[in-house]
Amino acid sequence: MIKFAFVIGGTGMLEEVCHWLTNEGYDVYVIHRDFNTFEAMKRRGKHPEKMYSVSVDYHEDEALKIKVKEAIKQQGNCPDLIVSWIHNSAPNALPIILKEVQPRIDPWKLIHVQGSSSFFVKENTTVPDSCEYRRVYLGFSLKKENSNWLSNEEIANGIINVIKRDFKETVIGTLKPWNKRLS
Ligand SMILES: NC(=O)c1ccc[n+]([C@@H]2O[C@H](COP(=O)([O-])OP(=O)(O)OC[C@H]3O[C@@H](n4cnc5c(N)ncnc54)[C@H](OP(=O)(O)O)[C@@H]3O)[C@@H](O)[C@H]2O)c1
Repeated sequence: MIKFAFVIGGTGMLEEVCHWLTNEGYDVYVIHRDFNTFEAMKRRGKHPEKMYSVSVDYHEDEALKIKVKEAIKQQGNCPDLIVSWIHNSAPNALPIILKEVQPRIDPWKLIHVQGSSSFFVKENTTVPDSCEYRRVYLGFSLKKENSNWLSNEEIANGIINVIKRDFKETVIGTLKPWNKRLS
């Protein structure tokens, strides 16, 4: 059976993750809003035919639920993998998506990408029993005394590594010393 993934926020810093997944044989459903950005990123990959647009604002609960349902129906099964990068302004979005995946019995993976400040909150994410939960914190890069945001390449490579090596909890870059973090 063809492997199936959702990537939420896949047209931004997770673009290379989407391309890598299509190269690995996944059908990738990318949640985003801007269709032109999606079309452009799709054309940059080797397998545009395996990339599907799920164009919706993830703050709109009902619309998100409908779009996720449609993708699952089109694919004929629940996803094997979800990579989620959702801003904190949309706390309902991931639970809505997870509810649609609830019927899946076979194990599947959620790669939950979170910003630096989430590291200190250590929130509990409720997931279905069949979900193998993997958490990734985005840190910053520190070279000598200078700190920088991670580049998209560093973030994407870090996440691909988490998927390949199945790390349970990962910080990409560093979170220490916290006072060196850019605000
Ligand atoms: N270290 C940290 O803690 C940390 C945290 C955050 C960001 N950053 C840095 O900041 C950079 C930019 O961050 P960013 O969040 O703008 O990331 P991004 O991944 O470049 O862009 C956001 C992604 O989410 C989608 N998106 C955004 N709002 C959405 C919505 N309401 N509904 C559906 N999809 C939505 C966007 O697509 P559409 O625009 O088409 O909707 C896009 O695919 C990153 O590259 C990273 O270096 C660092």
